[in-house]
Amino acid sequence: MNIQGKVALITGASRGIGRAIALELAQCGMKRLILVARDRQKLAEVAKEIEGMGVEAVIMAVDLTQPTAVNIAIAQVWRNHGPINLLVNSAGVAYQTSFLQSKLPQMQEELSLNLLGTYTLTHLIARRMASQRDGTIVNVSSLMGKVAAPTMATYSATKFAILGFTQALRRELAQYNIRVSALLPSLTDTDMVRDLKIFRWVITMTPQQVAQALVTGLRHDAPEILVGWQSHLAVWCQRLSPWLLEMILHLATPRPEELGLLTRFRRFSDGFLSKNMLSFVSAMRF
Ligand SMILES: NC(=O)c1ccc[n+]([C@@H]2O[C@H](COP(=O)([O-])OP(=O)(O)OC[C@H]3O[C@@H](n4cnc5c(N)ncnc54)[C@H](OP(=O)(O)O)[C@@H]3O)[C@@H](O)[C@H]2O)c1
Repeated sequence: MNIQGKVALITGASRGIGRAIALELAQCGMKRLILVARDRQKLAEVAKEIEGMGVEAVIMAVDLTQPTAVNIAIAQVWRNHGPINLLVNSAGVAYQTSFLQSKLPQMQEELSLNLLGTYTLTHLIARRMASQRDGTIVNVSSLMGKVAAPTMATYSATKFAILGFTQALRRELAQYNIRVSALLPSLTDTDMVRDLKIFRWVITMTPQQVAQALVTGLRHDAPEILVGWQSHLAVWCQRLSPWLLEMILHLATPRPEELGLLTRFRRFSDGFLSKNMLSFVSAMRF
């Protein structure tokens, strides 16, 4: 895809990977960026940075788990700021817990944002792209969409599903000149992972590295964009020697009692310990 002079809509653009993608696309010469998330204030800050680079920025503050609101917002944004050439579905949420202790509302949130939110928005935009016979869609999955992670069963399920969704759409929408790809970051330093009990030995990427990998992948029309050498190694290891990967995952995964301790500490800390202190304790792995 040639990025120069195009219009992109990026979800999850208020923070983390989505924000980094928006800034990277602005640097690469996009004409207009439509920034989507719930937090209007944070979106405005990102928009200001983008406008400082001489690129137009439009804010769309909406909860992607609310299909009616999303439908109305997309109709308005397409009319006033379209057509959109590139959609990046980056908004997502992750919870880590032992499956036996997991709570239904958290599972539902993961499913309704990561999966149904992506489905709703992609459906609305792909139909419009099909009538203009041009478009590119990138769905942000995860390395956990290839290599399932114990303690993150629902999250892994949503990320596996996004890969299947992407593969099916890639074939189905090619006739309308719509390209569909998946971006698969590994562990990346964002708000999402601050409260997670990190898997041992995994090297953290920066959101900027992920955004740069996306732009390179877009230029080559790569169907799946893996980020970092660890991801390539994990995927090859799964293909060639699944039992070895299984063993490594077993050793790398935080133990249930570690998660339990973290949960108890979180309850204790509610209200009077700072978030930084909690991250510090998370990182210590007891
Ligand atoms: N960080 C990692 O290690 C990692 C690794 C692999 C894949 N990923 C994937 O990368 C994507 C981005 O993750 P991240 O690390 O950047 O997470 P993050 O820093 O927590 O950002 C999540 C983004 O999603 C938005 N969002 C959350 N709930 C929303 C809702 N209901 N409606 C609209 N927007 C919503 C948030 O904005 P508001 O709160 O303002 O709504 C925020 O912009 C996710 O799909 C994640 O699964 C992350």
